[in-house]
Amino acid sequence: MSAPMAGSPGEPATVTGHPHRFGEPSVHPAWLPSEAFRALGSRRVLVHGDGPLVDTVETEVTWACSRFGGQALVAPYRDEPVDLVLALRWAGPLPAPATRALAPLNETGGGLGDEGFLLTRVGDTTVLLAGGPAGLLYGLYHVVRLGEAAFDPGLVTRRHRPALRRRMLDHWDNVAVHPVMGQVERGYAGGSIFWRNGGPRRDLARVRAYGRLLAACGINAVSVNNVNVGATEARLLTERLGDVAEIADALRPFGVRVHLSVTFAAPVVLGGLPTADPLDEKVRSWWATTTRQVYERIPDFGGYVVKADSEGQPGPFTYGRSHADGANLLAEALAPLGGVVHWRAFVYNHRQDWRDRRTDRARAAYDHFAPLDGEFRTNVILQVKYGPIDFQTREPVSPVIAAMPATRLAVEMQVTQEYTGQQRHVCYLGPLWREILGFRPWGEDGRTVAAVVAGEPAKGPTRTRSGPGGGLVAVANVGDDPYWCGHPLAQANLYAFGRLAWDPELDPAAVLDEWIDLTFPPTATEDPALVRETVHAIMDDSWRTYERYTAPLGVGFMVNPGNHYGPQVDGYEYSQWGTYHFADRDGVGVDRTRATGTGYTDQYPPPWRDVYESPETCPDELLLFFHHVPYDHVLHSGSTVIQHIYDTHFAGVEQVEAMFRRWQLLAGVIDPALHERVTDRLDEQVLSAREWRDHINTYFFRKSGVPDAKGRRIH
Ligand code: GCU
Repeated sequence: MSAPMAGSPGEPATVTGHPHRFGEPSVHPAWLPSEAFRALGSRRVLVHGDGPLVDTVETEVTWACSRFGGQALVAPYRDEPVDLVLALRWAGPLPAPATRALAPLNETGGGLGDEGFLLTRVGDTTVLLAGGPAGLLYGLYHVVRLGEAAFDPGLVTRRHRPALRRRMLDHWDNVAVHPVMGQVERGYAGGSIFWRNGGPRRDLARVRAYGRLLAACGINAVSVNNVNVGATEARLLTERLGDVAEIADALRPFGVRVHLSVTFAAPVVLGGLPTADPLDEKVRSWWATTTRQVYERIPDFGGYVVKADSEGQPGPFTYGRSHADGANLLAEALAPLGGVVHWRAFVYNHRQDWRDRRTDRARAAYDHFAPLDGEFRTNVILQVKYGPIDFQTREPVSPVIAAMPATRLAVEMQVTQEYTGQQRHVCYLGPLWREILGFRPWGEDGRTVAAVVAGEPAKGPTRTRSGPGGGLVAVANVGDDPYWCGHPLAQANLYAFGRLAWDPELDPAAVLDEWIDLTFPPTATEDPALVRETVHAIMDDSWRTYERYTAPLGVGFMVNPGNHYGPQVDGYEYSQWGTYHFADRDGVGVDRTRATGTGYTDQYPPPWRDVYESPETCPDELLLFFHHVPYDHVLHSGSTVIQHIYDTHFAGVEQVEAMFRRWQLLAGVIDPALHERVTDRLDEQVLSAREWRDHINTYFFRKSGVPDAKGRRIH
């Protein structure tokens, strides 16, 4: 007989077998409600392997089987029939069905890596073979995602491996409440799950529940504090390291490694040295010693995240050194311990004079970093925002991504909806990220952005990359809100980010399907087809809807300065942070051409440098990012710029109103509290979209004097 695991049928359910071992009952289960485990939990499941992550798998399986009447078994296996085998490829002699899965494994190419797994059918058994403990954990959640389909006799054999090695979230969480930014900078879901009022929050059950959700969507790294590092946060590196270690301990069972944002001035502010000059011997040895102490406490520590010489943060420029000098200093300290530095490329002059037409914020990251290609150590990951400006609803892909073939690059997304509705608006970002990841900076025959951050070598004439790729990073959107994200539908963004980081080729609508079925399990939902159809109708196109009623044609910003919510067309137009639209009575847009403008188009390789250079070839949605054109300029769509502005703003509001009506169809079909929360948010979205429409349309009507061709009311 196989040894039954604790909590299997016949035994009283213990606390270890209960899902709330991973979280609090008062918190929404997001994409891991108990019901999602029904298919797995009602089967006979054998887990084969050992190690800490395997323990997590066993705990999940034990609990699920005790909940749904299945049977959880551990090796040694004595040939009794099982429905599912979850086996670690290299852990001792494999149980018989798993041995028989080796042949299909070889047929699919063999390699699993330590995070990959193979899923196949052997007779009446579904077999999951994992390359390492992390693979077993990801495989388990994949089986959960598949539900009954995992046990279908026709299950197609498939090898799964993450495209990207590092799939990371940056929390912009402050330890001490910032007087302006609060507990979480750009946080729209309450307080931090890690910190509260200057100290650790110590709600480790919540942190474990978070780790579990992250593992179930494929995320394997988290940075636990804001990139803007204040005096309190700086000390996480030294005297408050224990607080970080506690978080690391809670996340470790889910394969999530912890990283820390550090201040470049740490040797001065923490070490009492007179300088933080990266070429100073004492500074180097301070970082080496400090970093060793971090690893003594957190052996699997991931590394440092650094925002330097940016928006007031200290950096190497103070000492006349380059960003390569700065990043290499930390990389040198981390290298012997296996850590990496995420060095952010978000460096620009935020004290511009708006009268100076030559300074273009879009150029800054390339101008600062492209000349440094080849100078970074191999454990430096240059973290580049996806666009050249700042997480706008629509931006071209950053030219830095194509400009640094000898540097490991990570692309940074923003799951927190700073510029996309602040989790008060529905804005499903999967399609935006998919577009960025699939963009080909060198044109049709070149690699995609996803391939660059995966470190895939170039084929053909393009220069070959040397580094292994830096992966994908995103600013997190969770807080201590019971729905994690404030807006329950914003959970889909977090889920989609993880899934796209695992497989950038996934179709965002299919990812949404997964999320819907996990969050509203069909087996416990009255009308699953209606839920699916309604949520798709609301979310699929919601990013483009958001774009329609906010800043037009790639122009960006037009938000209230400071909180970045709601319309204010000239909010940043005459400020020190950069200038974005240059609207006058004749036209609108920023001339970024090399012929007559800021020369930004020069930063792209062909074909984009030419595509963007001419208004004839520039895609409509980016026209005003690249060109200043008259209001009667005719777009490829056939509409004029001014009429496009009016039409999209009227249409955007109508679409939000339709979202609101659609959502009412789910009253009484899904959890009433969740339904009500979304209704409240949609109410706000309708009002806000109208506000945007009226502001933008009125502004451009007054500037241009051109009436709406359809005679609609403009104020
Ligand atoms: C944006 C955001 C800031 C943040 C910055 C960054 O500018 O508004 O709050 O600090 O990005 O990415 O560092």
